[in-house]
Order: sequence, then C-alpha cells, then structure tokens
Amino acid sequence: AKLGVVVVAAGRGERLGAGVPKAFVRLHGRALLEFAIATATSLPHAGHLVVVVPEDRAAEALELVERVLPANSPWEATVTPGGRERHESVRFGIAALPDSVDTVLVHDAARPFASAELFERVLAEVRRTGDAVVPALAVSDTLKRVDADGVVHETVDRAPLVAVQTPQGFPREALASAHETVQLQEGGEHGAPTDDAEVVQRAGGTVRTVPGERRAHKLTTADDLTVLESILAANAA
Ligand code: CTP
Ligand code: MG
Repeated sequence: AKLGVVVVAAGRGERLGAGVPKAFVRLHGRALLEFAIATATSLPHAGHLVVVVPEDRAAEALELVERVLPANSPWEATVTPGGRERHESVRFGIAALPDSVDTVLVHDAARPFASAELFERVLAEVRRTGDAVVPALAVSDTLKRVDADGVVHETVDRAPLVAVQTPQGFPREALASAHETVQLQEGGEHGAPTDDAEVVQRAGGTVRTVPGERRAHKLTTADDLTVLESILAANAA
C-alpha cells in the first residue's frame, strides 16, 4: 500500500504572464515548485513523487528535486513531461507511478503552501472511504450570474457551493480509469475538465470533501503573488 503524489507543473502560466511557467516563478529565491516537492516528501510515508513539467524544463526540475529531497529520504521521485491540457499532464503523471502505488494525491504546483496536514487529511479520508476526496472552502462573496457583457442576471445561492483546492486524493485504479474514459470522450459535449474530481465524476465516481485551507491558495494572476507573499510571511513568523 504505497502512496503516490503527482505534482502537476506543466502549465504555461498564461494568466500570470510572468514569461516563465508558474511553477518556475521565484518566491523568496526559490522556484514555486520547490515548496510543493518539499511538502509532499515531508509526509511520513514511503511514497513515490512524480513531478510533471514542460518537456524543456525536465533537467531543471530534476535539479530542484535533488536539491529539496534529503539524501536519506524514503521518497523516490521522478520527473515526466506534461501535456497540452491539465488532465493530460495528470494522466502522464499517473502512468509514471510504479505499480506498487495504490493511492494517489494530485497537487497543483501553483498551490505552493498547501500544508502537510492538508495532504494527510485528504489521504486519510480516501483510505477511510475508498472514494475521491477534495479539499473545499465555503464561498463568502455574494455570487452573481452575468452575461458576456458583464450585466448581472441573478444572484446565485451560495449555500450549496464550495471552492475546491488540491491536493485531491483517489484510489489509483479509480483515477486512472476515469482519466482513460475522459480521454476517449475528448472533443465531446464537455470542455476540458479543470480538476481531477471532475474527471472522476464524469466517470460516475463519488467525490467527497474535507475542509480546505486558505494557505492552499492558487497562483493564477499577478494579484495572487501578494496573497502568496503574505502566506509565506505568516508561516515564517
Ligand atoms: N498544468 C499542467 N499541465 C497543463 C496545464 C496545467 O501540469 N497542460 C498544471 C499547472 O502547472 C498548475 C495546475 O495545473 O500547477 C493548475 O493549472 P492552472 O492554474 O491553469 O495553470 P496554468 O495552466 O499554468 O495557467 P494558465 O491557465 O493561466 O496558462
Ligand atoms: Mg491552465
């Protein structure tokens, strides 16, 4: 019963527009990707980490892994090239996991400060239920449905809505087969799924939630850099 962690870092970071993929943006002298590698490999399990990166960044990613992973770590780590869409990158990441892995956590490199406790909470719930598990936060803003011109049509009831984060956890077989199914459906009525919970749901699986955390905030646009800076400062204190 081995744990696998897939850190996806193969996006282009177009909305941030930093000129480099988000995972390689530097924060206090460290590439963003280093934080996720450090947290994942701090988990007290013998696990296998796969870091999925743009093809031309594989050597750089391997150097980061070697820098972060202690020499005596029980973790093994490999780097593998990603795909055009996030779900393709995840599929390649799963394929790179050794057969001994039975439970997988998929995490965005763009959420550098998700805590080890959050990884553990998700993992424990997957092992307890055998279902897919995602961290979720209540939504606090009032939500409106708008049209393409930005004109408001209605207020949406936020009570049943949550914002979900990563790491998201899965029994390996369920995740792998759901990704195969989605790949076959590509170009169909749905757009590309933006998280793995959606992939599993499309395949008919149950997705449960555990409490998320503010510090697992995702870097998407330049505004988020300020948020990440403040999270880093708060956790250094
Ligand atoms: N990701 C990936 N492969 C892709 C697309 C995304 O591995 N083809 C990863 C990103 O590196 C990121 C996570 O999935 O860690 C969440 O995706 P997102 O926030 O959309 O990142 P980007 O795709 O890089 O950003 P953008 O959509 O603004 O280009
Ligand atoms: Mg993207």
